[in-house]
Amino acid sequence: MLLSPDVAPIPMRAVDLIRKKRDSGEHSREEIDFLIAGYTRGDIPDYQMSAWLMAAWLRGLSRAEAAALTEAMLHSGEVVDFSELPAKKVDKHSTGGIGDKTSLILAPIVAAGGLFVPMISGRGLGHTGGTLDKLESIPGFNVNLSLADFRRVLKECGMALIGQTREIAPADKKIYALRDVTATVENLGLICGSIMSKKLAEGIDALVLDVKTGSGAFMKKEEDSERLAELMVDTGRRMGKRVVALITDMNQPLGRWAGHSVEVFESIEVLNGRGAADLRELSIELSAWMFLLGERTPTLDEGRRLAESLIASGKARDKFRDCIRLQGGDSRVVDEPDRLPQAALRTEIKSPAAGYLVSTRCEQFGTALAMLGGGREKKEDSIDHAVALEFHKRIGDRVAAGETLVTVHYNDESRLAAAQALLAECCEIGAQPPGEIPKLVKKRIVEKP
Ligand code: URA
Repeated sequence: MLLSPDVAPIPMRAVDLIRKKRDSGEHSREEIDFLIAGYTRGDIPDYQMSAWLMAAWLRGLSRAEAAALTEAMLHSGEVVDFSELPAKKVDKHSTGGIGDKTSLILAPIVAAGGLFVPMISGRGLGHTGGTLDKLESIPGFNVNLSLADFRRVLKECGMALIGQTREIAPADKKIYALRDVTATVENLGLICGSIMSKKLAEGIDALVLDVKTGSGAFMKKEEDSERLAELMVDTGRRMGKRVVALITDMNQPLGRWAGHSVEVFESIEVLNGRGAADLRELSIELSAWMFLLGERTPTLDEGRRLAESLIASGKARDKFRDCIRLQGGDSRVVDEPDRLPQAALRTEIKSPAAGYLVSTRCEQFGTALAMLGGGREKKEDSIDHAVALEFHKRIGDRVAAGETLVTVHYNDESRLAAAQALLAECCEIGAQPPGEIPKLVKKRIVEKP
């Protein structure tokens, strides 16, 4: 029997969409809108969203689904308009890694160079650290600015660093926190939706993406990182933004430190013209791309030189100090980093043999840090900003038997044993040097016309 035309349509239900994705179905744009809007409003509970996220993680999202997800997440809140600002607005986002603190370095460099950097970041995700958690290790620093304060700080000092809010990218704020504790992070469509929704909401003209690849990244294989980069660059281009993605190495931690307060400390080191060579190199490279896309310099080389000079003159460091003050933080940390939280205890992970550091299980560094209290197991967990890992060797370095590979900075004795067991397996020591030292910047993906 045919239904008469005046029969009401069957209402959408979250359970049916979970089943559809579980059974490998492809969602329509309306279905994705229903899920994202319903979850953001609070009509769809965490347990149903968690089930859908896991189904999406297992079955994957098509390109069309990823695009619909990004747009639904973007329009869950406001899209900020900064067109009144007198220079280009540019930002950078990383897909996440261990010791990846370049945002804290390049935002002041680029703002000191005359562009605006309205940066919306995230907290720790999976095994990776988050910019917001690092910033909150600075006493008083407020990452929860209202939209009006975000605008005020940005206008006053050229940069502002905040998290997703109830007004901007609220869907990502909720879904991000849920993915962190439901093992549903490493999925191309979910990562694209999360990153691009908050970046497109920022009112920027251009975006530089740092897509990590290797044992400490969400995408372990270079070809997967490239697919993710292409998806995000294409999404940005369709929304009228200039976007470039650099595929960069995450087979070992970036810089010498991983943690929260220690990463602020290490960023200040680079802004003072010191710090680890790899961290400095990548920060300058990403800044140079921001200068180029933001039309501040006509070439990448000039962008690099400008970034170097803003560090050498102390202008980038001064910009960071201004931003901390304007966001309520104790800006004395820039000149007196001892004011940052420090762990009370330390122990060392030593090399069992003489030889060379051949490779690292980089993801496990992040897991160990979380076990020490530096990450969340449940959404509502608070974190210890002082726990840290200090890396003494890089891939290819010669190592003596008994030499320290990693120093562990911790506060809670009861958390140490499990982390230590994991850390003991993180560094592979071989008798011969590794055939190849991983190249820091592996590839660039630019927009296709
Ligand atoms: N960074 C984000 O903001 N979201 C992700 O899903 C991964 C990295």
